[in-house]
Amino acid sequence: MMKNNQSSRYQKKSHQAVANQPIGIFDSGVGGLSVLQHIHQLLPHENLLYIADSGHAPYGCKNESFVEQRSRIITEYLLAQGAKIIVIACNTATASIIEKFRYEYGIPFIGVEPGIKPALALTKNHNIGVMATTGTLSSERYKELSQRFGRSANIFHQACPGLADQVEAGLIDAPETIELLEKYVSLLKSKQVDTIVLGCTHYSFLNEPIQGIINNSIRLVDTSRAIAEQLLRVLELEALKKNSVPGSVAYYTTGSINNAEVLMSGLLKKKIIVNALPQHFISSKE
Ligand code: DGL
Repeated sequence: MMKNNQSSRYQKKSHQAVANQPIGIFDSGVGGLSVLQHIHQLLPHENLLYIADSGHAPYGCKNESFVEQRSRIITEYLLAQGAKIIVIACNTATASIIEKFRYEYGIPFIGVEPGIKPALALTKNHNIGVMATTGTLSSERYKELSQRFGRSANIFHQACPGLADQVEAGLIDAPETIELLEKYVSLLKSKQVDTIVLGCTHYSFLNEPIQGIINNSIRLVDTSRAIAEQLLRVLELEALKKNSVPGSVAYYTTGSINNAEVLMSGLLKKKIIVNALPQHFISSKE
């Protein structure tokens, strides 16, 4: 883990946001691509750097200090590339480290969290289900969020171990994935939920199979677009790129390059070239 005196140089250094610098985006793996798609659509002139920590995915079943260690290593890499802002496109990492990193690094961080607030605007019977990782659901940040909104609705939390792994393996509509989804969704259905929040960025890629199971009977809430809009608002205040040259998107993984290229190309429905992070940023102490 980065020592305090190492990370504190970011506290002292003023990170004057520079409009032409890239936006850094990361996730435990490919889930954050669901957010990246919306960012690229909304901010086509921005240069984006996406890091999939697939070599260490999933985060959802790991302890907070591991998630912090990995998030820190990736953040340091993005800062070294000149990132003007970092989007933590991972609910699990946001829940464990965003406040600390905002304080330590002194640049803006945008995070993702389960969209309970938008779900409240949609629910008719005030029964909301949240599908998320064990790490997200057991975090203090999530507990605070669900308590804050829990006065206006019944919120049912469903941990979904194994789901992010299925997406990482590219098994979006494999029988095992459908079986897992049926199990988790039926547990929420038994609580009469009329709205389900997708509280993990990997689950956005399972939207279709989930729709197949709920069959229009339940609304799904996915905040990927809202995250891109929030990013736009922050950049308007701080550092929106001024020229209209189309932005570039660079993809990195800490896992296998070949697997990442096949997986990302399949998820984004176009040919994706993936780069490796330097070794120093790949290895970690488990
Ligand atoms: N995509 C991540 C999230 O939004 C984490 C999935 C995982 O690595 O367990 O929570």
